[in-house]
Amino acid sequence: MPSLCVFGAQWGDEGKGKIIDRLSADVDFVVRYQGGANAGHTVVVGDEKYVLHLVPSGILHPGKVNLIGPGVAVDPLTLLGEIEGLRSRGVSVDPSNLHLSAGAHVIFEHHKRIDSLSERWLGEGRIGTTGRGIGPCYADKAARTGVRVCDLIDPERLALRLRPALAEKNALLERVHEAEAFDVEVEIERYAAAGAALAGFVCDTGREVRSAYREGKTILFEGAQGMLLDIDAGTYPFVTSSNTGVAGVPAGAGVAPNQIDRVIGIAKAYCTRVGEGPFPSELSGADAEWLRSAGNEFGATTGRPRRCGWFDAVAARYTLELSGADTWVMTNLDVLSGREVVPVAVRYRRGDERWTEYPASAATLDGMEVEYDELAGWQEDITGVRSWDDLPATTRAYVEGVEERVGVPIGMLSVGPDRDQVIPRSARRPALNLVGGL
Ligand code: GDP
Ligand code: IMO
Ligand code: MG
Repeated sequence: MPSLCVFGAQWGDEGKGKIIDRLSADVDFVVRYQGGANAGHTVVVGDEKYVLHLVPSGILHPGKVNLIGPGVAVDPLTLLGEIEGLRSRGVSVDPSNLHLSAGAHVIFEHHKRIDSLSERWLGEGRIGTTGRGIGPCYADKAARTGVRVCDLIDPERLALRLRPALAEKNALLERVHEAEAFDVEVEIERYAAAGAALAGFVCDTGREVRSAYREGKTILFEGAQGMLLDIDAGTYPFVTSSNTGVAGVPAGAGVAPNQIDRVIGIAKAYCTRVGEGPFPSELSGADAEWLRSAGNEFGATTGRPRRCGWFDAVAARYTLELSGADTWVMTNLDVLSGREVVPVAVRYRRGDERWTEYPASAATLDGMEVEYDELAGWQEDITGVRSWDDLPATTRAYVEGVEERVGVPIGMLSVGPDRDQVIPRSARRPALNLVGGL
């Protein structure tokens, strides 16, 4: 089973880090293909909690090769800090297990400053970005004024590319944003030092992953964010600036489309969203507070409280269909313990009109009402359960009820943050039981 893409099927923070860490035990390569340090992927191993932003979630398994592909927007200072942070906790990170694509675009300090400043101009339309410089970096990539890792590690090329680009950004900062400009030469020096520190990790990751595929190695493409934040398929303009799902893999990892064998979505047993934009099944008041506190729903990157709502089967059908996912993993099922009933969004409504297909336009979703099916809840603590048969009957009925409404089989359940807290359902897809029970 050579390769699989694991992506977020909601608005991010679905527990991708936990599941990818778990599946990494059975793969040879883990490849990030888009996004940047806007991602916060949490992995819990016993008493230790790691939040990964740029380093792929396979890093905690010795002997796995972790690649940061050409589609990732890399903040070199954040990456160096992350490598140092992992090393200080005894995790080995070196050029034998972490490779950085020479083609990846570089995020500079000015991208982050512009990210925050341009939000102020948007007023009501502000996106609520993570402030990590993602949008401005991908904008420069499209405008062909970006700086890539191959430039970063070559001081002459860095100066050649960064000097004019930053001169233009300084004009923007001073004249439009009335903000402080950067000292161009100081920035060139600072980033040249970062480039020198990263140079040993840099290679042609696309070629590496293509030949690994030919040799029959197992490759996991690690998605960041979620499909509803996808720049094309998501609730534009309240999205991130990359293709978050399987469509992002070929360009972002440097592989051929037919080198992606399977696609697996990750979704919580309810929904969360950070930042602005439509969220049809969003809760307010006591129920929202309850979910936020039961699920500890605070951003892994920014610490912001996440908006919370019930599971949205309309949205999940859309994201799983669009990605061609044959299986998905339901995470955070344990969080729902203690409810009498658990609603599941099954249709949208405006006036007499009913929607069973997700309209991926923020404007269409505005003011949409939601129709719910009410499934029976359960009271038991399920965090210690490891097999399907040991789950309370009502929990099993909830899972099957959601599965039926989504129409794609659930291959694994997650019942707590620790890497061991999973319930495989391999019986659902016996023929595909190849990686970590999926
Ligand atoms: P990611 O961005 O998709 O990797 O998800 P995050 O790490 O941002 O957020 C998921 C949060 O839920 C983290 O705090 C995880 O430790 C936690 N988590 C993951 N799976 C489970 C689960 O099954 N149950 C509970 N209670 N927490 C989980
Ligand atoms: P992981 O990988 C949740 C959201 C931001 C904002 C929008 C645009 O941990 O699931 P950006 O900084 O990308 O320009 O912000 O996208 N966002 C995320 N929300 N999880 C993430 O990543 C996110 N990355 C970006 O909150 O609404
Ligand atoms: Mg996250």
